[in-house]
Amino acid sequence: MSFEEHNNRKKANKFAEYITGESLRRYLAGKVEKYLGKNPSVFDGAAGSGQLEQFIQPSKFIAVEIQAESCAALANNYPDAEIHNTSFFLYQSESKSDCVVMNPPFSLKFKELSAEEQEAITTEYPWKKSGVVDKTKSNNKTHRELYDCTTNKIINADEWLINPDKWDTVSLPEQPKEKTDPMKLELMSQNQLKEQVRTQLQFSRLVFDLERWPRKDFEKFCDELCEVIQYEKKEVGIAPIGMML
Ligand SMILES: C[S@@+](CC[C@H](N)C(=O)[O-])C[C@H]1O[C@@H](n2cnc3c(N)ncnc32)[C@H](O)[C@@H]1O
Repeated sequence: MSFEEHNNRKKANKFAEYITGESLRRYLAGKVEKYLGKNPSVFDGAAGSGQLEQFIQPSKFIAVEIQAESCAALANNYPDAEIHNTSFFLYQSESKSDCVVMNPPFSLKFKELSAEEQEAITTEYPWKKSGVVDKTKSNNKTHRELYDCTTNKIINADEWLINPDKWDTVSLPEQPKEKTDPMKLELMSQNQLKEQVRTQLQFSRLVFDLERWPRKDFEKFCDELCEVIQYEKKEVGIAPIGMML
């Protein structure tokens, strides 16, 4: 049976519905299997159409989702799921699951929630009056990973101290600095020098010809230049490394 998904951007913007792509779904399923084995029971408080659970295939699935259309799609995908078409903030239950997987509507603003939802949140977290919908944690550390869905590889990860006023993602790893090859640079500069000398000589010859200066003076200049080159060619340089030992 094909996987059904509700994804209506016009409506979904209001609920911060950002659908998780298939690569991340598979990645998450791999993590869950690593820690819990195959087919654990799952709770998802922002379940959408059950995208995060697609490759987990939970043995028991408790799903909370505010959009009725998403709940309908979820019911098709998981006929045995326990579905609560309500706001996570109004959902009350003591039931337990092996794990919680959730891609929460993290960009929703507290002030944009209904009065009922706001009241439910402040009953539990009296200090919460604004900001995005987050929750207190026992410490402010979090492990972050930057995952490349095209190559299916983690390209960077770090431990991050949560700052409630600023959210940023893991930065890209520093690119290894390109190694400079001295021989390559030397050859480039030699070629440049040859071109400069050629251009300069052509220009000099042109000036001599235009000014009707004696050609032999130009040739003298060329010979002097050759002498400079020959002198440097024969000059004894530093000894080769083998001979210095
Ligand atoms: C970021 S999407 C994730 C959807 C799906 N789980 C996925 O990963 O592709 C957040 C979901 O939370 C739902 N949602 C928004 N506010 C909610 C609320 N107060 N209670 C429950 N679900 C909510 C949205 O309708 C949306 O389906």
